[in-house]
Amino acid sequence: MVDETSIFIGASRKPDDSYQRAEELLLRYGNRHGLVTGATGTGKTVSLQVLAEGFSNAGVPVFCADIKGDLSGISMMGEAKDFLVKRAEQVKLDPYQFQEFPVIFWDLFGEQGHPIRATISEMGPLLLSQLMNLTEAQEGVMNIAFRIADEEGLLLLDLKDLQALLANIAERADELSARYGNVTKPSVGAIQRTLLVLESQGAANFFGEPALRIADIMRTTRDGRGAISVLAADKLMMNPRLYATFLLWLMSELFEELPEVGDLDRPKLVFFFDEAHLLFEDAPKVLIDRVEQVVRLIRSKGVGVYFVTQNPLDIPEKVLAQLGNRVQHALRAYTPREQQAVRSAAETFRPNPDFDCATAITQLATGEALVSMLEDKGVPAMVQRTLIRPPSSRLGPITPEERRKIIAESPVAGQYDEAVDRESAFEMLQKKAKEAQDAEAQAQQQNSGGSRWTIPGFDDVLGTGNRRSSNRQTVAEAAIKSVVRSVGSSVGRAIVRGILGSLARGR
Ligand SMILES: Nc1ncnc2c1ncn2[C@@H]1O[C@H](COP(=O)(O)OP(=O)(O)OP(=O)(O)O)[C@@H](O)[C@H]1O
Ligand SMILES: [Mg+2]
Repeated sequence: MVDETSIFIGASRKPDDSYQRAEELLLRYGNRHGLVTGATGTGKTVSLQVLAEGFSNAGVPVFCADIKGDLSGISMMGEAKDFLVKRAEQVKLDPYQFQEFPVIFWDLFGEQGHPIRATISEMGPLLLSQLMNLTEAQEGVMNIAFRIADEEGLLLLDLKDLQALLANIAERADELSARYGNVTKPSVGAIQRTLLVLESQGAANFFGEPALRIADIMRTTRDGRGAISVLAADKLMMNPRLYATFLLWLMSELFEELPEVGDLDRPKLVFFFDEAHLLFEDAPKVLIDRVEQVVRLIRSKGVGVYFVTQNPLDIPEKVLAQLGNRVQHALRAYTPREQQAVRSAAETFRPNPDFDCATAITQLATGEALVSMLEDKGVPAMVQRTLIRPPSSRLGPITPEERRKIIAESPVAGQYDEAVDRESAFEMLQKKAKEAQDAEAQAQQQNSGGSRWTIPGFDDVLGTGNRRSSNRQTVAEAAIKSVVRSVGSSVGRAIVRGILGSLARGR
């Protein structure tokens, strides 16, 4: 079953519909990215499942989003249903064996899997601004906020930290404007309000610690199979911006953390973006450019990215041009726009003299696709009409009990489940505010109390003042120590973070 150099995808058909040959994805081109497209119900998710199974069996960890919950079945053994067995015969998959795969369930909301978190500083100003749909001026303020946090040693971990920092910035708007340029109270206020909206949408769960360690999505099992990380994305889909930002963040993390590896005999990780149109829908040009950069550059880190979407026109041309391995399921062609999409989809393939690509796209059956994988020297193969093989794991969703069991037995069980709230910007700014208050109260006391009463030889007021001020120093010292402790870990990275930002700077 484990083929060392390729993944079996299905069997291509001759013009008379008889068996032609096995179609395979060459693992050494697995990092040259891919695309799975097709109208709803045509077999995209099953194709994704088949690819993910193949990568896992080849020892390649996989990360994929599960939009409808139907990909979760990959964690369970398949069953010999008639239509599956029939399909296995058609594609000469013999023996057709069933298998369950090593799955780790994740969920940004922590309900259907282990929580995935990132800190605010890891997310970086660019992605946050994108997530919050900020204007250019507001984005400028966000950049300044990150700089201030960096310079003043304020750790930005969760939304509360960012809120506290923004409140602090609003108070010092005049002073900061003089130093950094325009920081207006209204623009800070607007960001604060957007943060509240974000919070009400449940994003607060996502920001904080313990943050996801990339190594945890790159696990393999003792028997050499790649773990399949399945992200529950049904609820996430209701917030497309969060979904898109999260996936971009994950890609940029991978890019930053993984070393250059050049050409490998198989990828180190494969990433599936379902509903990929959400990444690009009303995304500003800078962001699309950066997605394009990341996709281009991440290849040399051994990461393959596979986009799954209904229509190839959903993907910007520059990104599309980099997706080497293609599976095109059926498209409808009723409206002019649909006909246009079919023609464009057909034009992206290396033609096959046996059939007209555009016509074929509209006639494909469920679970059938036009397939063109990269072959020798990374050249796209001639397009073939291909019946996709049936999966070895279960088709369709698992039950909540099955899910609970897998989550409980997962290798990361207990590692992410509880949020940790260590001292960061929120607490530090609170302390500072309290100190300022104390100092003021004390000054008042000195003015009023000190002037009215005095006991000769026992300057009580002064004495208390001294004690207080020495207390205050201890608090300040503690704060400084905690900053020093944390600077090494995250604050220093705040600005460098988010490859998206750093890439832009590098160019
Ligand atoms: N390779 C295959 N072998 C056997 N059956 C298949 C195959 N591909 C698809 N099918 C059948 O078609 C059904 C729909 O496929 P799938 O869920 O993959 O469609 P989809 O394109 O992901 O749809 P949507 O856009 O609604 O998510 C499957 O539940 C299965 O019954
Ligand atoms: Mg689907």
